Amino acid sequence: MRKIAILGLKGGIGKTTTCVNLGAALAQRGQRVLLIDTDTQANVSLALGVTQVKKSLVDVLMRKATAAECVLPARPNLDLIPSDLGLFKAQQRMVLEVAREEIFTELFSDLVNYDYQILDCAPSASLLTINAVAYVEEVYIPVSMEMLALAGARQFMAYLRSISRLLGRGAAIRLIIPTFFDARRRVSAEVLSSLKADFGDKVTFPIRIDTSLSEAPGKGKTIFEYAPRSRGAADYAQLADIVAQLPPLTPPVNGTPSNPRAD
Ligand SMILES: Nc1ncnc2c1ncn2[C@@H]1O[C@H](COP(=O)(O)OP(=O)(O)O)[C@@H](O)[C@H]1O
Ligand SMILES: [Mg+2]
Repeated sequence: MRKIAILGLKGGIGKTTTCVNLGAALAQRGQRVLLIDTDTQANVSLALGVTQVKKSLVDVLMRKATAAECVLPARPNLDLIPSDLGLFKAQQRMVLEVAREEIFTELFSDLVNYDYQILDCAPSASLLTINAVAYVEEVYIPVSMEMLALAGARQFMAYLRSISRLLGRGAAIRLIIPTFFDARRRVSAEVLSSLKADFGDKVTFPIRIDTSLSEAPGKGKTIFEYAPRSRGAADYAQLADIVAQLPPLTPPVNGTPSNPRAD
């Protein structure tokens, strides 16, 4: 089972879009995928058109339900643990707990029957983010093609390094995913080449700007359902191929993968 967090300290950079459509593409390839929404905005369920949410991540964190009890089937091979606004309150409780960085690791231990777990994360330096980093082995970071986003990505790497120090280990930053790429704008090419200069072959081909990608969540559909012939569908299908073909992380040493950390 691969555990992936889609992370970034900025909103609106394509985290949720990547989580939903990468997950959907992998599910279409027959992989069993679980999406875990750890953002208070609860956008993953909206994007998938899941409106009947009885139990959510909040119930797991408040110890009112097990994680497995909160799993909702969203599509064939694609399950979801939704979030809701109560996550703010649940987070306040987490702060008071012992071993508070490892709460996801403890509470998600019953989620076993998946090939992929993909966590959508809040754009904040919060305990939820730290728990996500402690829980997963792989971190993917979308970066939108703006100069400020590039600066944000560099700051975020520094933040991830500080989390790794705090935890005594850390998930590997495996992919930097350029998003909102617009070939007509010079800034897109500039930010992309700076990213490649900084992060080398971790940088994937860009996800292009595509109106279909912005419309699909409003209809509760993945890009493959809403506009299967769109650029967005092609780009996320290609991203799923890249993810599926990544070599396995080096076998764990002392229980943690020994790939390069957040640097
Ligand atoms: N490549 C893209 N082209 C056009 N719109 C996009 C693209 N990626 C995401 N969007 C839209 O931009 C907004 C922000 O994306 P989202 O994935 O919600 O960002 P985040 O989760 O990082 O806040 C959403 O309305 C989404 O539909
Ligand atoms: Mg989001």
